[in-house]
Amino acid sequence: MNFEPLQNTRIIDAALGKEVDKIPVWIMRQAGRYLPEFRELRSKYDFFTMCQTPKLACEVTLMPIKRFELDAAIIFSDILVIPKALGMQIELVSGRGMVFPSPLKSPADIDTLQPINVKEKLSYVFEAITLTRHSLKGKVPLLGFSGAPWTLMCFMVEGESSSTKSKAKSWLYKYPEESKRLLDLLSDIIIEYIVGQIEAGAQMIQLFETLAEYLNKSMFDVYCLSYIRKINASVRELLKKRGIPEVPMVIFAKGAHFALKELSESGYEVVSIDWTVSPEEARKVMNPNVTLQGNLDPCALYAAPESLKQVTEKMVSTFGKKRYIANLGHGIYPDMDPDNVEVFIDAVHSF
Ligand code: CP3
Repeated sequence: MNFEPLQNTRIIDAALGKEVDKIPVWIMRQAGRYLPEFRELRSKYDFFTMCQTPKLACEVTLMPIKRFELDAAIIFSDILVIPKALGMQIELVSGRGMVFPSPLKSPADIDTLQPINVKEKLSYVFEAITLTRHSLKGKVPLLGFSGAPWTLMCFMVEGESSSTKSKAKSWLYKYPEESKRLLDLLSDIIIEYIVGQIEAGAQMIQLFETLAEYLNKSMFDVYCLSYIRKINASVRELLKKRGIPEVPMVIFAKGAHFALKELSESGYEVVSIDWTVSPEEARKVMNPNVTLQGNLDPCALYAAPESLKQVTEKMVSTFGKKRYIANLGHGIYPDMDPDNVEVFIDAVHSF
């Protein structure tokens, strides 16, 4: 595919360990409800309709890029497009979040998941990526993403938000082999999905293992890390086989403070960390050949501008300018003030 050359390569350079003129920055969930223009468009469309309509997904992806000096765009979509593609019904219910009316109740339900052709079933995401690449005209790189297997399994088994994830975790204890069968099935789809996004024009990929924080180290090794590794290796292998150039990959395993070293040796160029990990500790234990991403406590965006500026400056000075991408330690919340996003971005860039 023919796209315009990239004008801002900071994020890609930082991911690959090259020098940058300024520290690059983007924000998890940068296109979302904290933006009045998003809420305005969202009032007219259902959430998944927005994801499934490339023109709308593109428009939303560009919203934060028009407003702020961000160094990357992230395609507007959701990690739950995969369970949806497998035939599961999902509704975004106000006040309850994502609800699956018929979650997986026992391993026998794994067989109700429909075998899919990723290229066809998720073609709307690929089309949205290609359209957005063209619309960006090379201004900043476009990131693609996917949920990681354990995080998707959690949603598919829990059915709605839960503070303990005890249903999904009970599967790991009661049905370890069947759980692995489900995680393997999801991994195979995720691999094709990521390759499809890269083929469509995604210039960096982030894998979200958001619910890693519910597991201990030994469970994480078996049910997360092995799949995180496999996905990375298989994506690269498939890209090579199909003659598609590789792109940097980011792993964000929220709460996996016990596996920083392992994550930094799992094949990803970038490891994203949450705010509970100190930058010093992360640099000390991790492979020096990975780039770190993170990790401002999102709630720092509630601070007055002057103190937000101070905590941001402290954070970036501790990480340093080399092998670093500034971000929050998790997604921005809907009630945050867009003006403070600008304060955060400016504080990073002026360091
Ligand atoms: O910058 C972006 O906005 C990119 C798009 C993006 C969304 N979701 C849009 C969205 C990305 C990268 C995600 C990832 C995602 N989705 C994760 C992993 C990252 C994380 O933040 O933990 C998870 C766990 C989900 C699942 C999900 N999506 C839930 C549980 C919910 C409902 C609760 C909530 O947070 O609102 C969503 C909805 C969702 N995804 C919205 C957006 C903008 C809100 C939609 C709305 O209410 O209008």
